[in-house]
Amino acid sequence: MSLELSVVVLAAGMGTRMKSAMPKVMHKVAGKPMVGHVIGTAAHLKAATTMVVVGPDMPDLIKAVAPHPTFEQTDRLGTAHAVLAAKDGLKGLTGNVLVLYADSPLFTAETLARLVAAREENDHAVAVLGFRPEDPTGYGRLVTDAMTGALTAIVEDKECDDAQRRINFCNSGVMCFRAEDMIATLEAIDNANAKGEYYLTDAVEVAQKNGQSCVAVEVDEAETLGVNSRTQLAVAEAILQNRLREAAMADGATLVDPGSVFFSADTKLGRDVIVEPNVVFGPGVTVGDNVVIKAFSHLESCVVGNGADIGPYARLRPGAEIGAGARVGNFVEIKKAVVEDGAKVNHLSYIGDARVGAKANIGAGTITCNYDGFRKQHTDIGAGAFIGSNSSLVAPVEIGDGAIVGAGSTITGKVEADALTLTRAERIEKKGWAAKFREKMRELTGKK
Ligand code: UD1
Ligand code: MG
Repeated sequence: MSLELSVVVLAAGMGTRMKSAMPKVMHKVAGKPMVGHVIGTAAHLKAATTMVVVGPDMPDLIKAVAPHPTFEQTDRLGTAHAVLAAKDGLKGLTGNVLVLYADSPLFTAETLARLVAAREENDHAVAVLGFRPEDPTGYGRLVTDAMTGALTAIVEDKECDDAQRRINFCNSGVMCFRAEDMIATLEAIDNANAKGEYYLTDAVEVAQKNGQSCVAVEVDEAETLGVNSRTQLAVAEAILQNRLREAAMADGATLVDPGSVFFSADTKLGRDVIVEPNVVFGPGVTVGDNVVIKAFSHLESCVVGNGADIGPYARLRPGAEIGAGARVGNFVEIKKAVVEDGAKVNHLSYIGDARVGAKANIGAGTITCNYDGFRKQHTDIGAGAFIGSNSSLVAPVEIGDGAIVGAGSTITGKVEADALTLTRAERIEKKGWAAKFREKMRELTGKK
């Protein structure tokens, strides 16, 4: 693959079978809209331009694919018609134009590169990615020349005669065109067929008539899944998760129970990371080397430094930055906060809008009270500070380096470095009071 590559992504369908208010291709797999996966694959192939054909009234989709140009297909008149909606973007292109469906997120960059290379090899007009399903019903059949193996036609299911219907080599939907004559080819396609649609697949016959050659390249069926329903969305999710698990392990992470770990497409794990069972990575997580993420932890949009220890049952929310060697233990929630190197927040805490200085120790049950119903306020805890258990830090709070806060305190304002601060009600002790109380209550109620 050496010529220029442009990509047209078809995303005009609403996907009625999803029963959703959202365009089908905005539904997420591995934490990313389906259309984002397809655009990501195009980027991986270093596509010079990626154009997206959208349907009417899809502002969220247009926003999601920005800055890639979008073209609206107003009436749904078939796949060739959909590609031609991007005609203004196709003009003047050279090399290859790859047509992808936004609802088919599983094609790998390697497979698509293989298709493009096959088109380039003999300067074919069209290269088509085919697969062999057990049941070919519903797919366009790839008709090949028995002698040369050349692709001579694609016949849509509804147009097949009996012999063609028995062909099990099918069109995956992915097609690569020679850019220079693509518009002319597509404009020669008519809609004289069973569905009255402009079939993109008729490009093969048009090319034949013009004395041009076409080729088919085979791909594993697993890559071809198109998502039309929530059930197929779940199948796509499962396939992608398995790929992400395999990739994480191939890159040097241990997954104790791979099937119970859920990744996002952009999760980054360092070397010698250990991920225990039932861990979920939302989008935007970067984990350093030698980190242990214990069971039942949930991470999203956060950074975990080398050698940190997370969980079990930890929740790292957006903006959490955990330093090297730091510890975040069970039932601890961290949001938009920096926990610096070697700091410990081990039990039952909420740390939000805060900095926890290096090697500080946050006692069990400590809460940063960051919200007054109107504003979020910041808590700053100095290096080496010690916050006693069950303390409430009512932001804005500033605790100096090395300061100690007594357990059970409610702290506001500023605490000097190296000071001891505590807020506690005076202790009262009444000798024998409890025994007398019980005696009186027994007399009163008759209970023993
Ligand atoms: C298409 C192929 C068929 C192939 C199958 C693989 C054609 C004529 N047929 O059939 O050979 O085996 O995919 O799944 O291309 N779309 C638009 N605008 C339109 C029509 C379709 O954007 O006017 C989009 C759809 O949203 C979808 C894709 O194009 O993402 C394919 O359309 P669909 O109607 O599913 O085509 P099939 O009949 O499945
Ligand atoms: Mg389809």
